[in-house]
Amino acid sequence: MTSTAIKNRAEEKYMPIYLDSIRVDSVIDFDLYLSIDKQLVLYRAGNLPFTERTRQKLLENNVDRLFVGFDSRKKYQKYIEKNLDKILTDPSIQETKKAGILYETSAGLVKEVLSNPTYGENIQRSKEMVTNTVNFILKGQDAFHNLLKITSFDYYTYTHSVNVCTFAIALAQQIGFNDEEFLNNLGVGSLLHDIGKSKISDRIINKRTALTPIEFEIMKKHPKWGVDILQESEELSEEIYYPVLQHHERGDRRGYPVGLSLDELHIFSKIVAVVDSFDAMTTERVYQKAMESYPALKIMFSLKGAYDEEVMRAFVDLMGPAGLTDL
Ligand SMILES: [Fe+2]
Ligand SMILES: [Fe+2]
Repeated sequence: MTSTAIKNRAEEKYMPIYLDSIRVDSVIDFDLYLSIDKQLVLYRAGNLPFTERTRQKLLENNVDRLFVGFDSRKKYQKYIEKNLDKILTDPSIQETKKAGILYETSAGLVKEVLSNPTYGENIQRSKEMVTNTVNFILKGQDAFHNLLKITSFDYYTYTHSVNVCTFAIALAQQIGFNDEEFLNNLGVGSLLHDIGKSKISDRIINKRTALTPIEFEIMKKHPKWGVDILQESEELSEEIYYPVLQHHERGDRRGYPVGLSLDELHIFSKIVAVVDSFDAMTTERVYQKAMESYPALKIMFSLKGAYDEEVMRAFVDLMGPAGLTDL
């Protein structure tokens, strides 16, 4: 076996985390590793306290990243979700790093939700995640742009869900919706809008070629299946279901599952339809190169009546590129 193969194998077993995501004096129930000369060594066993001194020592040695074993990733995920509000409001942590931690934590959660969608606790965790995201974006334009910079350009259902949630909250604010309950409900609906895809086989989800008519019929069921999954949890407010059910509806009645017109769509659905299409076009797929923002928006404007005009205009303002005025 070559040394690169050994190294890759070691990296597969551990995931890098930010030192800033570990809170001083908090309860940590997983082991922390350090990378020394490209070898990962145990630094702190899970039952030992992580003190301010520990942290200072690492900082003195310019350590910014630690590692957690993949077998502890669910414990780490829960730990960081629990401490996320403290991390995001800590003035000593750089804003760009906060955006990175928020994005990674949100993506990790959605990954878990998609693999276990009816597990009740996952919905509650999603709500808390959205509250953190809303509070972060409400801090202003810079916070949104920091998130925008780190959005994944490779398409996975879980990163796509985080992108759609981020865009939807920022877009709603751009339109003028500032009510926190409105933004939180929209956020939960957009984070979970594709949860119904968890019922579809990976063979169809990851297919490299065009779907057959039968496969497309199955794919078209994911909005309804998403609502079915969420209704099992019982604790959601009614309007959260709309973007899940209607995000593939288009104002020209060419969408699915029903073929509704624009005025039959809930405002959440109008917003999510725009950001969902935009993210699908501007991320890299196995069968399609990622488009730049400008051509993607131009195509969306050319589909007359498909998207809500006011929502589209606000989206262009939000993305802020120069030279879009002739659209
Ligand atoms: Fe979808
Ligand atoms: Fe989607």
